[in-house]
Amino acid sequence: MAQGNTLWTALLVSLSLMLVEGTNPGIVGRITGKGLDYARQEGVAVLQRELARVKLPNFSGSFEALVLGNIEYRFHSLKIESFQLLSSTIAPVPSVGLKVSVTNAFAEVSGEWQWKNWMASDHGSFDVKIKGLSISVGLKLGNDSAGRLTADSSACSTHISNVQVHIDGTWSWLYNLFDSQVESALREAMEDQVCKVVSSSVSSRLEPYLQTLPVTAKIDKVSGIDYSLVGPPVATSDSLDLDLKGEFFSLAHRSAAPFPPPALPVPEDHDRMLYFGISSYLFNTAGYVYYQAGALTYDLTDNMIPKESKLRLNTSSFGSLVPQIEKLYPSMLMKLVVSPSSPPSLAVAPEGLSLAPTVDLQAFAILPNSSLAPLFLLDVSTTISATAAVESNKIVGSLKIGRLELSLKHSDVGPFSVKLMQVMVNYFAANILLPQINERLAQGFPLPLPDDLQLSNTVLQPHQNFLYFGTDVHYG
Ligand SMILES: *[C@@H]1O[C@H](CO)[C@@H](O)[C@H](O)[C@H]1NC(C)=O
Ligand SMILES: *[C@@H]1O[C@H](CO)[C@@H](O)[C@H](O)[C@H]1NC(C)=O
Ligand SMILES: *[C@@H]1O[C@H](CO)[C@@H](O)[C@H](O)[C@H]1NC(C)=O
Ligand SMILES: *[C@@H]1O[C@H](CO)[C@@H](O)[C@H](O)[C@H]1NC(C)=O
Repeated sequence: MAQGNTLWTALLVSLSLMLVEGTNPGIVGRITGKGLDYARQEGVAVLQRELARVKLPNFSGSFEALVLGNIEYRFHSLKIESFQLLSSTIAPVPSVGLKVSVTNAFAEVSGEWQWKNWMASDHGSFDVKIKGLSISVGLKLGNDSAGRLTADSSACSTHISNVQVHIDGTWSWLYNLFDSQVESALREAMEDQVCKVVSSSVSSRLEPYLQTLPVTAKIDKVSGIDYSLVGPPVATSDSLDLDLKGEFFSLAHRSAAPFPPPALPVPEDHDRMLYFGISSYLFNTAGYVYYQAGALTYDLTDNMIPKESKLRLNTSSFGSLVPQIEKLYPSMLMKLVVSPSSPPSLAVAPEGLSLAPTVDLQAFAILPNSSLAPLFLLDVSTTISATAAVESNKIVGSLKIGRLELSLKHSDVGPFSVKLMQVMVNYFAANILLPQINERLAQGFPLPLPDDLQLSNTVLQPHQNFLYFGTDVHYG
């Protein structure tokens, strides 16, 4: 029996590991207590405006009074003068989502009354103070099939502890008789309406808003980013965690990346409203997509070189190093084609971000009829250090190139020592190629946040295999 249990446990553990491995996110997001609290303020402000617009029904009734006989009364034209939700809380609820509680809310209602019996009638106005109104509502959070966040209200309840009716008029002894009926009718109407308003605010305001949040973003002609949820948000005791796919994909031809996302720990801090862990997987899917699309191939030509430079991309400049080049192709311009020999991969570690790409550098002479004559092919490897920063809802990057290691893969101009090329290639890499790449990286990629959210207090730190990003937010 004990052995049977162990077997089952082992099976379940390995099964759950497999499941977890299959769905490692490329981005994890955490909305902290502070972030939820900001969302609560925004949400409660909306709810307060919606509640102030509630239409309360007319109500009527009758009762028997001494001497006066049967009295019929009617209350109508009820209007909410104010609705104040001054105190509220929000709390994550495991396996549900969120619970929002409003306590001690206050409302003022005004309206008109009238009564009649067999011999007389009267009418006037009244006002009501509703005190100690409490609302409790669950927000069930999930994801739809497109990976969008969904929210549904659940388990709404309202309670009113105190209703004070004040009726103007001369026959005040009479009004005292139907005071309690007015009170309970109003309590019932109010309790009934509040949850309806809550549920319609969630379905007509919150849900459509969530539907507008992007689950993919087009980056350029080549790629898009997929931010869709890989499962429903997970509520912990003090935060709401979201696992997002977090990968680049080819717009032309979407296919799975040939490497899995590594396990991504959920950020543990809580002094900012929002935290993201951005996996090296996200960057590496970018490298893969751009490599596959041939978008990492750069052509370098002489016209890209500053006028004042002595080093030119021409056969006489290169001929000073390898005389054979100028001998075979005198007075011609040249072209260098640089392309990585494998998809670039970004290493993210606490010490920083780095790449160790290997690129092919093919040199051509441009013949008078514009066709290209191959000269030589170099294998260039280097280490590149990268920095990342956040600029207005985008992560931007910049690269700094290290020492280049050259080796000759093939020559059409006879053997030569690549050492001679070192200065020349370094110059072109640092001054022509890198600025082009950095210009592209400066355009950045968008974080999975709505456009109308302003960020402040941002932090961005590299950790093992992920970038850790924290921020406060503000709707503006
Ligand atoms: C409530 O009473 C007012 C005034 O008598 C009337 O105009 C209105 O139509 C009534 N509303 C409903 C829903 O019966
Ligand atoms: C939530 O997302 C997951 C992963 O994409 C998907 O399998 C699941 O069907 C989605 N849930 C719903 C209700 O569509
Ligand atoms: C080639 O570069 C040299 C400088 O290295 C320059 O003097 C010469 O005019 C250039 N030739 C062509 C064809 O551009
Ligand atoms: C260009 O000129 C070279 C050498 O003069 C020749 O081999 C090549 O066929 C020409 N190409 C075209 C497209 O005319």
